[in-house]
Amino acid sequence: MKDLVRLRTSLKEEIETALNSQIKMEAEASAKYLAMASWCERNGYLKSAEYLYKQSDEERGHMLKIFHYVASVGGTAVSPEVPSPQLEWGTFQSVFETALQSEINVTHAINKLVTKCRNAEDYATENFLQWFVKEQIEEEANARRALELFDVIGEDGTGRFTIDKEIGKIGSTEE
Ligand code: FEO
Repeated sequence: MKDLVRLRTSLKEEIETALNSQIKMEAEASAKYLAMASWCERNGYLKSAEYLYKQSDEERGHMLKIFHYVASVGGTAVSPEVPSPQLEWGTFQSVFETALQSEINVTHAINKLVTKCRNAEDYATENFLQWFVKEQIEEEANARRALELFDVIGEDGTGRFTIDKEIGKIGSTEE
């Protein structure tokens, strides 16, 4: 039966599996940002929380984009199981260290996925993934900017208050 189903799509099984792994990774990224937003909100960093809620939504958008692609080319998109993310951070800054590391991991995963598509001669999926290659440049830049603000502004005095305010502006035209 499985072979019969596969005859109806040019999507190779190994690419379908890899895309489903990426769906899961984006869902995990969304859950991680939500946990970070929760930490910021309960520690008084309300603008950062807003920014992180927005990031969480974006990650869900990324997940859905791949999900719909898999479905549209006749594959099986799998609703992913998401493990409980980290809930606590020691410092305000370490939240954004986690965010940047997470974005770097996603960039590596997307790059590997593109290589896999090229090796499998799946140029349609490779082409589809170019959006993500570009998106990751922005996502990493935003995460790096948030971390930079800790150095540029400094955490003394009202520093953390100002950092919070500035993080809230990342990605908006106000910055
Ligand atoms: Fe969807 Fe921020 O990677």
